[in-house]
Amino acid sequence: MNRLGQIIARRIRARGPLTVAEFMALANTHPRHGYYTSRAPFGAAGDFITAPDISQMFGELIGLWCASVWEQMGQPRRVLLVELGPGRGTLASDALRAIRQVSPAFRQALELHLVETSRRLRAEQAAALAGENPAWHDAFAHVPRAPLLLIANEFFDALPVRQFLPDGRERRVGLDGDALRFLDEASAPGVSEDSPERQALATAIAERVVAEGGASLLIDYGAERHDGGDTLQAVRRHRYAPVLESPGEADLSAPVDFGALAKAARQAGAAAHGPVGQGVFLRLLGIEARAALLAAKASAEQRAQISSALRRLTEPDAMGALFKVLAIADPRLKLLDGFAPC
Ligand SMILES: C[S@@+](CC[C@H](N)C(=O)[O-])C[C@H]1O[C@@H](n2cnc3c(N)ncnc32)[C@H](O)[C@@H]1O
Repeated sequence: MNRLGQIIARRIRARGPLTVAEFMALANTHPRHGYYTSRAPFGAAGDFITAPDISQMFGELIGLWCASVWEQMGQPRRVLLVELGPGRGTLASDALRAIRQVSPAFRQALELHLVETSRRLRAEQAAALAGENPAWHDAFAHVPRAPLLLIANEFFDALPVRQFLPDGRERRVGLDGDALRFLDEASAPGVSEDSPERQALATAIAERVVAEGGASLLIDYGAERHDGGDTLQAVRRHRYAPVLESPGEADLSAPVDFGALAKAARQAGAAAHGPVGQGVFLRLLGIEARAALLAAKASAEQRAQISSALRRLTEPDAMGALFKVLAIADPRLKLLDGFAPC
């Protein structure tokens, strides 16, 4: 068993089995051996590729979305651009470049706040965002109160889920000798899931945009409604791996239940726009025109890359349908780019 596996096993021997949510939180964010704390997960050489790494167009269009919402907000003189889980800082860097081009006044008004637990990734973000003067926080609750635009790309899927057995008991991780095992494995097919942590964060974002003004974009893989079953997955080097096999060495995630987040947001008084498929959202923001503009100045090889990136980001058989976009917004903002009126 690896180092984090041994730490988890010791803890189980001392204090008893862990819930699935506790296991997931330790595997992803243990301060020394957690997946995001200890590894370089991104890119072809890592474990997975995210949309900002596929193409600069993704972050640029989100930057333009923010500029358009800032206009609708009445151009507040101080506005926070908050990113949850910024990874390598690529999305924020591309967004800020686009923002500077279309609206220097918006860039002037904007303060960059990053929510990131991994010290290692904070260093990568500092390098990518040199000159942008970001402030870092361990949790969204620590971000100062002011009008805000918030982006979370592939963040909610990493937050822990709880699992329940058909008889209502919470599913737990225990030991079989020295190996980690799900307890009551036989009942796994009837497992159901819930994520109070994700819903609490959606509520907190909703309360902020209602009280301070602003909007947020939550982009993730998931469904409008969770159909039940065990959806927790581990990805290592672009392949699925057994969930309990090597904690901290594989990315643990579960698809996002967008319906549950939208409900939590509405209950807190915010408007929920979408979710819409990432492909629809990016097309409405003009990704095809942006790709054509980039292609016009590109070499043949770059043109092929741009067209492949466009396909990967938008087509339903790639990321276009599985990934969805939900906006949680101040209800005074009636029309948000990329969504039908709500
Ligand atoms: C899958 S990555 C997504 C990175 C980036 N948004 C992108 O699209 O490339 C998840 C990010 O969230 C951070 N993270 C995960 N769990 C976190 C938590 N509980 N609190 C703060 N940051 C967290 C990770 O360190 C990482 O930066």
